[in-house]
Amino acid sequence: MKKVMYNQFGDESVLEVVEQPVPAIENDQLLIRVKAVSINPLDWKVYGGEMKLMSGSTFPKSLGIDFSGVVEQTGSAITRFKVGDAVMGLLDVFKGGALAEYIAVKETDIALKPVNSSFEEAAALPLTGLSALQIIDQLAVVGPNQDVLINGATGGIGIFAVQIAKKRGARVTAVVSTKGVAEAQKWGADTVVDYTKQPIRQLNQQFDAVIDLSTRLSFSEAKRLMKQKAIFVSTLPSPVALISSFINNIFSGQKRKILIVKPTAEGLTTLTKLAEADLQIVLDKTYPLSNVRGAYQEARRGNILGKSVIVLD
Ligand SMILES: NC(=O)c1ccc[n+]([C@@H]2O[C@H](COP(=O)([O-])OP(=O)(O)OC[C@H]3O[C@@H](n4cnc5c(N)ncnc54)[C@H](OP(=O)(O)O)[C@@H]3O)[C@@H](O)[C@H]2O)c1
Repeated sequence: MKKVMYNQFGDESVLEVVEQPVPAIENDQLLIRVKAVSINPLDWKVYGGEMKLMSGSTFPKSLGIDFSGVVEQTGSAITRFKVGDAVMGLLDVFKGGALAEYIAVKETDIALKPVNSSFEEAAALPLTGLSALQIIDQLAVVGPNQDVLINGATGGIGIFAVQIAKKRGARVTAVVSTKGVAEAQKWGADTVVDYTKQPIRQLNQQFDAVIDLSTRLSFSEAKRLMKQKAIFVSTLPSPVALISSFINNIFSGQKRKILIVKPTAEGLTTLTKLAEADLQIVLDKTYPLSNVRGAYQEARRGNILGKSVIVLD
């Protein structure tokens, strides 16, 4: 079978499509024939070597976090899925391995694919959907009538964060570039700010929650956009950021929280239900596996609405 692997850290030129044996499954595993895999910014941070502390520095390494596919084989201890089920799921975010024709997974790594989503759409849901759920419900704890600012609102996490914050009854201000203005309005944002025309640092409003998905807004810059009691959420965990947020949160009403996504089977099932209700998944481009380098080059340049996905034959 074909699988994407790399033998050194670097840019997209290190990524190779290689032949590997189809994995053998244990009793508590399922074999999945992969149909689609989404592209995440975390991928290039890992193959670029920025995440060595978490990913380790041994090679070869594999690529691809979230996927959709069909159950091909089940181990004897599997009870919740059967051969032929259409599923979606995610692998360890720092080890990856989903960009392969077949993968071995545990039952807790997957949920049934939403019946109304294509395989491409379903592959775009797990990591960013779980991140959005965790940010809105557990970190920012968004509730009715709160004012929430989402910076980077039409990226992978942002589109889901806007929709989920609206479901919780919040008033959402979405910060996007020009091409995302209509999209953010479509997903229910009450106010849309085009950051290419109006820098958010100049906004004259205070929010209950400021959620930065762009990685370009620091906590000290965000403070003037926050009410006296408010929460700032960012997505780049580092030892320094975690320690300083812990100390800040003891003394200040302006709290700082950092996403470290925790995948759970329950969270995946919640996403399936949300997508089957009305959560919209937005796909930018799809690419064949043979163009994996080009796909990641384009994604890394940015300017993407929602998610890009690699489709396996
Ligand atoms: N810690 C964790 O557990 C965890 C888990 C998942 C993801 N993450 C991280 O979370 C971040 C967001 O993930 P994602 O999948 O949503 O990424 P994404 O799809 O790349 O979205 C980022 C968004 O930021 C916008 N942006 C860029 N520059 C901006 C600026 N100056 N002002 C406002 N917005 C700007 C981009 O919009 P334009 O292209 O239109 O400018 C884009 O929509 C990434 O850094 C990812 O690595 C962390």
